[in-house]
Amino acid sequence: MYNREVLMCRPDYFEIAYSINPYMDPHRQPDALKLEREYDALIAAHEATGRKVHFLEPVHGLPDMTYTANQALVRGKMAVLGNLPPERAPETDHTRRWLEANGFEVIVCPYRFSGQGDAVPTGTGAVIKGRQWRSDPRSDAFIEESLGYEVIPIHTVSDRWYDDDLVFGVIRPGLVAVCLDALDIDSQARIKDHADLELIPVSLKEAEQFALNLVSDGNTVIMADGAPELKTELERRGLRVVACNISQLKLGGGGIRCTTLALDAN
Ligand code: ARG
Repeated sequence: MYNREVLMCRPDYFEIAYSINPYMDPHRQPDALKLEREYDALIAAHEATGRKVHFLEPVHGLPDMTYTANQALVRGKMAVLGNLPPERAPETDHTRRWLEANGFEVIVCPYRFSGQGDAVPTGTGAVIKGRQWRSDPRSDAFIEESLGYEVIPIHTVSDRWYDDDLVFGVIRPGLVAVCLDALDIDSQARIKDHADLELIPVSLKEAEQFALNLVSDGNTVIMADGAPELKTELERRGLRVVACNISQLKLGGGGIRCTTLALDAN
C-alpha cells in the first residue's frame, strides 16, 4: 500500500511572494483564516484514513515550503532531493535534515528536478516523469539509476502543467487518472500504449481544478472539489472519495498532492 506515511508542512508562512508558475499572482494573497481551515481539513482527511502524517517545521521566508512534494522523491529508504528554482532552493536543506534524521539515505540531484511534483510513481515499478518546465531531461537517467524506476518521460502542452502531478493521479497500482489533452501527442501515445497502465481520462476542465493532484491509498482518494465527473467515476469503481476545498492553496499553483510527500513509495 502506498501513501500510508507522508511528510507535510503547515503553511504558517504561506504567501504569494513571487511568481514561478502561471497561477501565482502576488496581487492575490491567501486569506489566513480560510487557509488554516482548509489545511486543517486536509490533515483531518488524511488522518481519518489512518495515514501517518509527519510534519516538517515551517520556516519564515520560505512561503512555498508547504508544497513538500517538490522537495524530494522517496523510494524505499532512498530519497533524491529536489533541485528547485532559486526562490525555493533553501527549502531542501530542511527536508534533507528531516529525511536523514528519520533514516533515509539522501542523494542530491545535480540537475533541476521538481521532486515528486514531476515524478509520479505508478505502483508498477515505473515513474511518470516531467522533464520540461521544472526538471532537466537529464534528471530522467539520474532517477532511473538512483531509484531503479523505469522512467516514462512526459511532455505537457503548456506551463500551466509545469509539474506533471497536475495531470496524473495514481489511484491504485497501475490505475492512473490522466488529462490526455494536457499532453503532447508522443506523450499521449507513451501513456496509452504502456502495457501496465489502465487509464481514467479526465477533462481539461476538471484538471484545471487540480483534481488530479490527489492522494490515494487505493481505498480512499483525497482530491480537490469541483471535479464531479472524476469523483463519480472513482466512486463507481468502488473508491471512497473525500473532496476538499483548496481555494487558498491553489493560489500558489498547487493542490493536495503537492502538500504531501509520500514516504513509503515502492
Ligand atoms: N508555488 C509552488 C511552486 O511553484 C507550487 C508547487 C506545486 N507543487 C506540485 N507538486 N505541483 O513551486
